[in-house]
Amino acid sequence: MLNSVCSLSIMTQIGLLILVVLGVIKAYLILTTGVCTSTKKLTGKTVIITGANTGIGKETALDLAKRGARVILACRDPKKAAIAKEDIIRESRNKNVFIRQLDLTSLKSVRKFAADILKSELRLDVLINNAGCATIEKKLTEDGLEVQMQSNHFGHFLLTNLLLGLLKKSAPSRIIFVSSMAHSQTNTLDLNNLNSELSYNTGTVYFYSKLCQVLCTRHLAPLVIKSGVTVNCLHPGAVKTEIFRNAPTWFQMVAAVCIPLFFKSAKEGAQTSIHLAVADEVANVTGEYFSDCKIAKTSKLAKDLELAKKLWEVSETFVKLKPEERHF
Ligand SMILES: NC(=O)c1ccc[n+]([C@@H]2O[C@H](COP(=O)([O-])OP(=O)(O)OC[C@H]3O[C@@H](n4cnc5c(N)ncnc54)[C@H](OP(=O)(O)O)[C@@H]3O)[C@@H](O)[C@H]2O)c1
Repeated sequence: MLNSVCSLSIMTQIGLLILVVLGVIKAYLILTTGVCTSTKKLTGKTVIITGANTGIGKETALDLAKRGARVILACRDPKKAAIAKEDIIRESRNKNVFIRQLDLTSLKSVRKFAADILKSELRLDVLINNAGCATIEKKLTEDGLEVQMQSNHFGHFLLTNLLLGLLKKSAPSRIIFVSSMAHSQTNTLDLNNLNSELSYNTGTVYFYSKLCQVLCTRHLAPLVIKSGVTVNCLHPGAVKTEIFRNAPTWFQMVAAVCIPLFFKSAKEGAQTSIHLAVADEVANVTGEYFSDCKIAKTSKLAKDLELAKKLWEVSETFVKLKPEERHF
């Protein structure tokens, strides 16, 4: 055996070694991927999922629909949403799936969405702030906010505030922010540059936006704990979705090799969101960051409660939160 390995060319040996290393990594990823094991039904419960027309959001919506929930798909593109709705109803056999138009890059749209929900829905049991994007150039929205920051943080911040009264009325209820381990890729959060006023770097903006979601989770959780509302956030893993659609070509090429090998499917990526939405074991867990259906470590910065408080106040100003829109 040893003789035959030695007789292989050096290139073949390197090739075999690479295959073994890849195999070990893949096996590790399969073994550590968290799966929601709860069989909980959601009959009579209402859930809202932002960005539910594709990727992690769509898989989350499908799972919750299968559990009997009334599922509201909060999507910006009505055509994409209609296709997703059809798929979800067909696969779940649950007709209680509805579309509501929501564009997080417009505070007007967020306010209209929330007003419509408050008018039409008697209850809201789970709000999943899932939508997100990664952009490559600086663009401002109609509100003068940076697109990536508004899609990922400011829009969901306003939405959560506007729906908090209904969530409290429906308690026990749950708020879930789909963040990312990318939150730990920055050592600073410059509140003077939250809207890229001083400088712009696309990666930094994504890291900031995901850190903001962890900090908002930390700040909000104790404020609503007595009302029976839990607030948690999560990293879904590296997931094969459309999130890299705007990435540069070199990244797309690397991704084309890495994604099939190492990335989770969207269904696997949805497991931690589903776990936080349904599992009894997390009913009283709040203010935490999860990965693979377990509490995970955050960066040091993401534990800074003073920073979280300041971020909350600054964000209120950016989204022009009115006194009557505060629910704690
Ligand atoms: N995939 C990963 O590896 C990964 C890793 C860590 C964290 N995440 C987070 O996971 C979440 C879900 O992402 P994904 O991977 O499922 O990506 P995706 O397939 O690109 O889905 C993103 C969803 O968000 C929606 N969206 C984006 N901007 C929006 C806006 N302004 N208003 C309303 N909806 C908007 C998209 O709608 P359209 O289809 O209309 O664009 C889409 O439905 C994101 O928050 C992302 O940051 C993903």
